[in-house]
Amino acid sequence: MANNTRSLFFLLITLTLVSLPPYHEFAFDFFKLVQQWPPTFCKLHRCPRPIIKTFTIHGLWPDNYTTFLDSCTGNSFHMFKNTAFVQNLTVRWPNLDYYSNNRRFWSHEWEKHGTCSENLYPQEAYFNLTMQLYDRLNLLEVFAKSNISPGASGNQLLSRLNNSLVAYTGKIPDFKCRPGPSTTTLIIEVVTCYNSSGTAIDCPVSQLSNSCKTQSLTGISSFETHYPTQGLQMSR
Ligand SMILES: *[C@@H]1O[C@H](CO)[C@@H](O)[C@H](O)[C@H]1NC(C)=O
Ligand SMILES: *[C@@H]1O[C@H](CO)[C@@H](O)[C@H](O)[C@H]1NC(C)=O
Ligand SMILES: *[C@@H]1O[C@H](CO)[C@@H](O)[C@H](O)[C@H]1NC(C)=O
Ligand SMILES: *[C@@H]1O[C@H](CO)[C@@H](O)[C@H](O)[C@H]1NC(C)=O
Ligand SMILES: *[C@@H]1O[C@H](CO)[C@@H](O)[C@H](O)[C@H]1NC(C)=O
Repeated sequence: MANNTRSLFFLLITLTLVSLPPYHEFAFDFFKLVQQWPPTFCKLHRCPRPIIKTFTIHGLWPDNYTTFLDSCTGNSFHMFKNTAFVQNLTVRWPNLDYYSNNRRFWSHEWEKHGTCSENLYPQEAYFNLTMQLYDRLNLLEVFAKSNISPGASGNQLLSRLNNSLVAYTGKIPDFKCRPGPSTTTLIIEVVTCYNSSGTAIDCPVSQLSNSCKTQSLTGISSFETHYPTQGLQMSR
């Protein structure tokens, strides 16, 4: 009898442990790959010179369709031992902020975002996946196919960029803008979305940024340099 009670007790403990709900921080549905445009970032922040003239990685953000994920519980960042890997990251995922550095930038991105997909992608795998997705989508090349280059501006720029990217990926992207001088708006980031295995998907409509469509704007601002008095631009 005592034995039976003990078995029941252990059975209950085991069932309790096994049936604990999964950590909410691991409940990510999809990834957002956020690429930033340094000429715009560096208009708004102090950057080391020379300013990089290609889209670079801001981050890969695991998210959930209904619940915003960030700063999940997970392992803290450790610096990579493989110098070739660090070199690869340095080219694709450089810190742009004069007051920070690569290590701090990567550590921040890992702790704020990477930990939310750590169940599937431990640190090295997460950074590796991010670089692979980035390498698959060279935004400047894609835009060039539609004759859009840095310096482009005008009311139609947002839809031109969008059409160009949709034609290439077949999926709905997202764009983020920041106010520039006068009544201009500058493209700062382009977001593409992926399922948890890294296949491109539409970015969820409910989570699209409306930052490129501010009221004062009749269009998108430039990819950079000279500012039209209104409209969107892609800084040069
Ligand atoms: C997204 O978050 C909700 C609420 O936390 C959770 O119920 C759901 O399971 C999550 N989605 C997935 C696919 O885990
Ligand atoms: C670095 O990137 C190159 C391709 O650019 C790749 O062949 C190589 O395997 C990468 N090295 C590491 C350690 O990830
Ligand atoms: C990253 O991926 C490349 C191939 O894409 C592979 O050669 C390399 O070993 C990986 N590096 C790490 C640290 O996982
Ligand atoms: C981009 O094009 C897709 C497909 O036509 C559309 O659903 C989406 O709303 C467009 N986005 C923007 C920002 O124009
Ligand atoms: C991601 O999409 C691909 C292509 O549709 C599919 O084969 C794969 O199973 C998907 N992964 C997940 C986790 O849903």
